[in-house]
Amino acid sequence: MKSNFASYGVVAALAAAVGAQQTAQDSIVMGPPLELVHLYYDEWPTGIAVSSSGRMFSNYPLGLDYTNTKYQVAELGSNNSETAYPSAQINTPPGGAIDYSTNPPQSKGLSDYFIGVQSVVVDPKDRLWVLDTGRALLSNGTLTTSNPGGPKLVGIDLTSNTIFQTILFPPTVAFADSYPNDVRFDLRASVTSSGQGVAYVTDSSSEGRNGIIIVDLGTGESWRHLNNIPQVRPEPGFYVNVWGESVYMNPGNGMPVSRLAFGADGITLSNDGETLYFSVVSGRHLYGVPTSRLRDRSLSSELFATGSVMDLGQKGVSDGLESDSNGIVYAGSVETDSIVYFNPQNGTVQTYVRDPRIDWTDTFSVAGSYLYFTENQLFRGPAQQGGVDRRVKPYALYRVPLLNNATKISLV
Ligand SMILES: *[C@@H]1O[C@H](CO)[C@@H](O)[C@H](O)[C@H]1NC(C)=O
Ligand SMILES: *[C@@H]1O[C@H](CO)[C@@H](O)[C@H](O)[C@H]1NC(C)=O
Ligand SMILES: *[C@@H]1O[C@H](CO)[C@@H](O)[C@H](O)[C@H]1NC(C)=O
Ligand SMILES: *[C@@H]1O[C@H](CO)[C@@H](O)[C@H](O)[C@H]1NC(C)=O
Repeated sequence: MKSNFASYGVVAALAAAVGAQQTAQDSIVMGPPLELVHLYYDEWPTGIAVSSSGRMFSNYPLGLDYTNTKYQVAELGSNNSETAYPSAQINTPPGGAIDYSTNPPQSKGLSDYFIGVQSVVVDPKDRLWVLDTGRALLSNGTLTTSNPGGPKLVGIDLTSNTIFQTILFPPTVAFADSYPNDVRFDLRASVTSSGQGVAYVTDSSSEGRNGIIIVDLGTGESWRHLNNIPQVRPEPGFYVNVWGESVYMNPGNGMPVSRLAFGADGITLSNDGETLYFSVVSGRHLYGVPTSRLRDRSLSSELFATGSVMDLGQKGVSDGLESDSNGIVYAGSVETDSIVYFNPQNGTVQTYVRDPRIDWTDTFSVAGSYLYFTENQLFRGPAQQGGVDRRVKPYALYRVPLLNNATKISLV
């Protein structure tokens, strides 16, 4: 006992001596200051879309949060208010989004209603597109499968606030267990023979097949490429840590604990529209693929598409991606409280902004000369926390100026 007491005394004296000297420490904050734009007090958001005039829209996927039942898409108003968009009606399927008459229950295939919206994006013609997975979550954490009519891309004219186009994904393109996650648009007439442009969509399904869905906006046809290749799949042995906490899939209700398994999710286009960038959430690499290979539907097109994927190296763990008029690609980095960027000029990844308020950067949107992004604490949701909801409202929307006065990409 006596010797222990003596050694504690030595340690205490040592601590007092070094305490006078400050050691090096992480400064945490880097880059332009975050500007708080909106606080979400009601439903849990993922996406953000900002129009050229500054109108803001978010989506609140019923496929990831079973309490998101009031609206799937809302326009953000002043004083942190949110209003169902484009109407309350389209946001409220009659009797709810789930058909409980089947065993197991399934998502309803209603083409005139939003079922579970995973993304909202403003295209280069300043139109809002809503990407509906067609899937809804049960309160016990089970994700129901979709039915035709559910998975779709809905175009809304922001002048009249009315739907101008609804493109349904056939069940051979969006499988019942697909999860259409995010979308980007190239409206150049030259990219398709129908001349109305093309959309590229990631399928991030946790239990099904991953890949990229390509949509001809003129004909409404859609097809898949990069089907289940390793680059669109969760990386084996994936581990992620946010704010010091290990994150696993852990839905509770007796369901097994597993690694976070989100496939191809983040997606964005180069400023010339010729390269599509994508990344999985459960992985660290940024990939690029020539868009011409994805638009190609000839017999050998999948061979050439899969053979032309470029591994651009690691960028950290991120959800959404975005790019700007200078060709810079922005990505979250959930393990480092930061947003990073890939510079295609020299192939490097650099920190853009770092701040302790950055947790899970879900989705980006570019408008004016700003990069908008949502921070939604996804890792603290019940699916990761043994069924316990550890998220703390409000969730937040921030913006920072784009690098070097860049603006939105204009592929029109
Ligand atoms: C803003 O919202 C808060 C909370 O809902 C409310 O108490 C307050 O009156 C609102 N202020 C304005 C100016 O609308
Ligand atoms: C969740 O509920 C559905 C519908 O009642 C049921 O089919 C499924 O087995 C349940 N899952 C778990 C893990 O309890
Ligand atoms: C690459 O470009 C970035 C600017 O985007 C610059 O900060 C960085 O120093 C460059 N890296 C190298 C190795 O040249
Ligand atoms: C950005 O634009 C401002 C105002 O037009 C200008 O003063 C500044 O030099 C520009 N910065 C860069 C990096 O181009």
